[in-house]
Amino acid sequence: MTTPVTTSAPSDATLEVAGRRKRMLTGDRPTGKLHLGHFVGSVENRIRLQEEYEAFFIIADLHMLTTKNARADIDQVSTNARDMVLDQLSAGIDPEKATFYLQSAIPEVSELNTLFQNLVTVPRLERVPSLKDMARAAGKDEMPYGLLGYPVLQAADILCVKGDVVPVGKDNHAHVEVTREIARRFNNLYGEVFPIPELVISEITTLVGTDGQAKMSKSLGNTILLSDDADTVRRKVRGMYTDPNRVRADIPGTVEGNPVFLYHDAFNTDRDEVADLKERYRAGRVGDVEVKEKLAAAVNAFLEPMRERRASYESRPGYVDEIIVDGTERTRVEVKAVVAEVKKAMGITGTYNQLRRKAEQARKRRGE
Ligand code: TRP
Repeated sequence: MTTPVTTSAPSDATLEVAGRRKRMLTGDRPTGKLHLGHFVGSVENRIRLQEEYEAFFIIADLHMLTTKNARADIDQVSTNARDMVLDQLSAGIDPEKATFYLQSAIPEVSELNTLFQNLVTVPRLERVPSLKDMARAAGKDEMPYGLLGYPVLQAADILCVKGDVVPVGKDNHAHVEVTREIARRFNNLYGEVFPIPELVISEITTLVGTDGQAKMSKSLGNTILLSDDADTVRRKVRGMYTDPNRVRADIPGTVEGNPVFLYHDAFNTDRDEVADLKERYRAGRVGDVEVKEKLAAAVNAFLEPMRERRASYESRPGYVDEIIVDGTERTRVEVKAVVAEVKKAMGITGTYNQLRRKAEQARKRRGE
């Protein structure tokens, strides 16, 4: 993979905290299969970071509900979750290193969300720009209460495992800022319980769609999936948008901003071939067919190791389901401990303990 990826290291250079490896927490809403845009936008980064941090990946189905909550959407979650996890394992996430968990299967996350709701104000949340974008994209002219609370639930996701670092794209930066504010506010009110999580910024250019639109996206139908087979890739590449002025092979073409060459730059490891194609394209000495055939071959070479890993995972029925279930169980143990610590720090545990003790004494006095 040759796309330049730069990640600013967390300001605290040490990778350990409290005698354990620092934790990274990130994830996605379970909306479908992953494509090349996801790979260069986040998966590639995750593969690298799993070596440095203890990695948690949330399958954020409760977050999905903030914009998609029809029964039909919910019925798709298990399939989508399985697809997304399989895509990531095929891409190179190591199931021995990473923990995947399903948000809705850990009710203590929702409990934490409830407690966090009082640590942030409505005007503060109204200033988070991505929420208005999401409401608009979902065709909602009024903001659902749950969508306004999206960053608070995200804070619960991150802090329920005491996440130290959060690698996310631009659209999520403001959410992590809210998480940091909630963690600070909590610690000020109730004592030091949470780390202040750091944002890991990945300066990765978004991949254009096969149709030349700014972004590869399922809803635009301009994707190449990580799970596409070789023929599908060839067909999609053959149909790619390229320099529209170049109606014949002997007309000089434009390389800059041309999706076909942007993909060559991103996925073709044969730099000499790419340089040669660009030169001949500019000079009007190469046909689109050759440029695209070579691109399809490069993308297929890039995807081939993923296909091999996928085949080996798929040969073990139920394997991905087990990964998700085991990860969820393991995470739930951690989350229960953190939420118990939170309620103790807040004094909530004491409330009911006092009532219980008094009730117990009364019962004893009556000789029961
Ligand atoms: N908000 C993320 C998205 O855009 C998904 C998500 C939910 C997440 N909880 C998270 C990301 C916690 C990082 C950390 O889909």
